[in-house]
Amino acid sequence: MKPVKVGLLGLGTVGTGVVRIVEGHQEDLSNQVGSPIEIAQILVKDRAKARNISVDPSKLTEDPWDIVRNPGIDVIVEVMGGVALTKEYILEALERGKHVVTANKDLMAMHGQEILAKARDKGCDVLYEASVAGGIPIIRTLIEGFSSDRITKIMGIVNGTTNYILTKMSQEGAAYADVLKEAQELGYAEADPTSDVEGLDAARKMTILSSLGFRANVSLDNVSAKGISGVTQEDIQYAKRLGYEVKLLGIAERQDDTISVSVQPTMIKRSHPIASVNGVFNAVYVHGEAVGETMFYGAGAGELPTATSIVADLVAVIKNMKLGVNGRQAQLSYNVMKLKTDEQIASKFFLLLHVEDRAGVLAQIAQVFSNCDVSIESVMQPSTPNQSSTEIIIITHEASKAAMNQVLQAFESQNSIRKIKSVYRVEG
Ligand SMILES: NC(=O)c1ccc[n+]([C@@H]2O[C@H](COP(=O)([O-])OP(=O)(O)OC[C@H]3O[C@@H](n4cnc5c(N)ncnc54)[C@H](OP(=O)(O)O)[C@@H]3O)[C@@H](O)[C@H]2O)c1
Repeated sequence: MKPVKVGLLGLGTVGTGVVRIVEGHQEDLSNQVGSPIEIAQILVKDRAKARNISVDPSKLTEDPWDIVRNPGIDVIVEVMGGVALTKEYILEALERGKHVVTANKDLMAMHGQEILAKARDKGCDVLYEASVAGGIPIIRTLIEGFSSDRITKIMGIVNGTTNYILTKMSQEGAAYADVLKEAQELGYAEADPTSDVEGLDAARKMTILSSLGFRANVSLDNVSAKGISGVTQEDIQYAKRLGYEVKLLGIAERQDDTISVSVQPTMIKRSHPIASVNGVFNAVYVHGEAVGETMFYGAGAGELPTATSIVADLVAVIKNMKLGVNGRQAQLSYNVMKLKTDEQIASKFFLLLHVEDRAGVLAQIAQVFSNCDVSIESVMQPSTPNQSSTEIIIITHEASKAAMNQVLQAFESQNSIRKIKSVYRVEG
């Protein structure tokens, strides 16, 4: 039977996994799709580079157009990364009627709508399961599994590097800078970790998840992002004393036709299932009006977990080819949503204040909260003997972000408050 021919753009970590799975599971895969799958050509930057997989050297090329313009190639699998060149290759491949599978969250978060529109016009599939939470089939779940429900909340640990760092800080009491260095040595963090630790990578993934979950056009600019570089060991220890873990959470919420999407270090109640997701693992919690709470857990990256999602997408594309229904599932956003204002975004908050240690200060603080219409759930004052200042920890009831900002502004002008040390969103 005639094989389906795949052009693979990239033979790095993920590309190698794709070759291994397509070759290792060939019999099973061809039984599922009704024909063999052949990786016919592979784009690399350097053909002479030593590789930890053996491939037929005649399949390797350094010229992307060899593959993208090859009429014999049916499907392009893009695992080279980057945005500008990759977008150019993918649009050209779609123009020529080739289907595309990609693991590229940067590309899909920034140009997903344009690429999906092109795919629809050309009757092609573009599938990108591996772009968020590597081995967890969350994209297919949001598109298909929840097609009958209205999703109201998505909370994700979608960046393994930051989850590894926060887990180590929590379990071993280590300082942020030390754990980051160790993560870099182990290859869990990049030499330039900015995109991970400042929450940008998670923001891109939340752009994709919220667009699909809310069936709305969410752009990267709509997602506010704060990373973990300001999280201290002190914050983590106080969180633990109060029954919380600190996690970098992407949180997307919908109410009627308003949404908010953000990424921030969050204190999450230890009893919430996402609080126990540790190390480099990822998890996505989804709340639907009808289904209630669900959660999906697994490897967020790595050669074989990521390749599993890519090859599953490849199988879906080939099944569509056999049925002649490619391009029917391009997910274009049909809901018009407004971004929530700060008055509409509500959560509980944790505050750690450094204050003057004298009678009446607590009453002043309580007055500020009351003036701003924020009610307090609990107050803790750890003992700090023989000092002129002390720490106060406050957890609020649910309050709007706008009201909380008013509280913080009022504290700035109070002499008795020496420093606002930390502010966290609280969930669970
Ligand atoms: N690694 C993961 O666990 C993971 C998980 C989910 C998603 N992803 C996404 O998957 C993609 C690939 O990641 P990766 O970790 O496999 O990357 P990688 O190990 O750096 O591999 C990139 C591959 O693409 C080739 N390449 C890069 N730029 C090229 C260019 N301009 N022309 C020709 N070839 C080029 C490289 O060629 P050479 O081999 O010759 O250098 C290499 O084979 C990225 O979009 C990433 O975000 C990765």
